[in-house]
Amino acid sequence: MAMAQFRLDGRVALVTGAGSGIGAGIARGLAESGAAIACVDVAEAGLAETVSAIETAGGKAIAVVADVRDEAAMEAAVERTQRELGKLSAALNCAGVHDNGAAESMSRAQWQRVVDTNLTGVFVSCQAEGRAMLRNGGGSIVNIGSVSAHICNRGLPQVHYNAAKAGVAHLSRSLALEWAMQGIRVNVISPGYTATPMARKPEVWEQVKHLINDIPMGRMCEVEELVGPAIFLLSDASSYCTGVDLVVDGGAIRW
Ligand SMILES: NC(=O)c1ccc[n+]([C@@H]2O[C@H](COP(=O)([O-])OP(=O)(O)OC[C@H]3O[C@@H](n4cnc5c(N)ncnc54)[C@H](O)[C@@H]3O)[C@@H](O)[C@H]2O)c1
Repeated sequence: MAMAQFRLDGRVALVTGAGSGIGAGIARGLAESGAAIACVDVAEAGLAETVSAIETAGGKAIAVVADVRDEAAMEAAVERTQRELGKLSAALNCAGVHDNGAAESMSRAQWQRVVDTNLTGVFVSCQAEGRAMLRNGGGSIVNIGSVSAHICNRGLPQVHYNAAKAGVAHLSRSLALEWAMQGIRVNVISPGYTATPMARKPEVWEQVKHLINDIPMGRMCEVEELVGPAIFLLSDASSYCTGVDLVVDGGAIRW
């Protein structure tokens, strides 16, 4: 009985950023827990790989190409998800971008790309998902934030990224309270440095290698270690949790 609370059988989940890294790993994990998955990403190639991995493991998934910055595209993604898989009751918003740039010389375009994707894109996704869940009688949404919402990463000039992630944390709390009485829970997972293409880009990798020395557990997070927290927050196992920011960082922000 207790373990059954963690199952997602019969649920329909939408995962943005499902074509790579954390989103791809969590999409596969949610499918293993029984959910049918709408895998959403702006990049088509990675999506096909995620869908194929889910199907090979016996799960159900569809690939939906959409840009999280585009309201009409996200509305259409939710509409197609419900038409092909059933009523949406879970969503995990993971699509994101990252780059470095000194604040004093950062162009408006560089600022805007990161804020538009990592903050506005999360709002646009929540709005489309939330509208469907309000009609469906409830659901659970998890937004992927970052430890960068809690600390400023030593040696990484990324004022746009840090500000956007801090925005995701408070956006999620605000939505959690707005929708609490309508059956929609909204929570955050804030990962620490995770072994994905984003954290291994040459412009950040040298610094991330140093930052790993500051992690109490002495290593990066593996994508698979974010799957359990996601299942917990999307399933009935967390039915009384809303507005939570679950930091998964090997203790990094506790020094
Ligand atoms: N890797 C880390 O160390 C780390 C740590 C904390 C938080 N995060 C966050 O986790 C999330 C996933 O990061 P990752 O490391 O897996 O990166 P990744 O680059 O491997 O994956 C990001 C995915 O998002 C997609 N994407 C980007 N812009 C999009 C858009 N406009 N519309 C739809 N999809 C879009 C990309 O195509 C890609 O498939 C991001 O929000 C990131 O900020 C990552």
